[in-house]
Amino acid sequence: ISVDIHPDAKEGSKAVAREIAALIREKQAANEPAVLGLATGSTPKYLYAELVRLHKEEGLSFKNVVTFNLDEYYPIEPDALQSYNRFMKEHLFNHIDIPAENYNIPDGTVPKEQIKAYAEAYERKIETVGGIDIQILGIGNNGHIGFNEPGSHVNSHTRLVTLDNSTRLANAYEFSNMSQVPRLAITTGISTIMRAKKVILLAWGQHKAKIVRRSVEGSSTDQVPASLLQQHRNCKFVIDEQAAAELT
Ligand code: F6R
Repeated sequence: ISVDIHPDAKEGSKAVAREIAALIREKQAANEPAVLGLATGSTPKYLYAELVRLHKEEGLSFKNVVTFNLDEYYPIEPDALQSYNRFMKEHLFNHIDIPAENYNIPDGTVPKEQIKAYAEAYERKIETVGGIDIQILGIGNNGHIGFNEPGSHVNSHTRLVTLDNSTRLANAYEFSNMSQVPRLAITTGISTIMRAKKVILLAWGQHKAKIVRRSVEGSSTDQVPASLLQQHRNCKFVIDEQAAAELT
């Protein structure tokens, strides 16, 4: 893992947006799709705002971009306030020229008995377009990436998972109370993330400093899912000074 430290979240997000823009333009020139793996939550909000700005002010087109989101609560309606489907539209897709058929977000309404087949199809679709070029990640306080909680196997694929209580608590602010936070989610797996050609994990703020340190400097263990990224050959953490505070 390499680590890029920026003065604040805005600067770090701009740097990552430039990198994504460069990929999109390079792929446009080659007449190929640029395939992005995307995250939700508070961490990538500036990144998406900057990508929208690049589209509106600098003519960056997303016509050749294909995206796969990491995760979605289960069950949840796509237009629910807290749904990641809605989040992505509000923060990114409604403001850029990506064709609607090019973005993929796990569907929180798939009947339970169909989730296995749905998850396999999601994985296959990623492979069919040539795999993820850049995977964007945030990190949970317990080290989760996507909704791969501690203990997630390094070979895990897209599947239905149970959220840790700490994750439900951290996300409770989006809901009217804790009991409303779904207990389940659909997430792509550790192995799905590890197959991305490049992984960029973002972390901002002092509350992420401890888990950033454990992920980068601790042993690589499934008890800290983000530490498994030490085994990826093209992974960087883009963090701000506060999140870097505990690095030695
Ligand atoms: C969201 C996701 C999660 C978040 C993580 C951090 O799609 O996959 O792993 O990245 O929970 O959340 P925030 O950014 O809200 O601190």
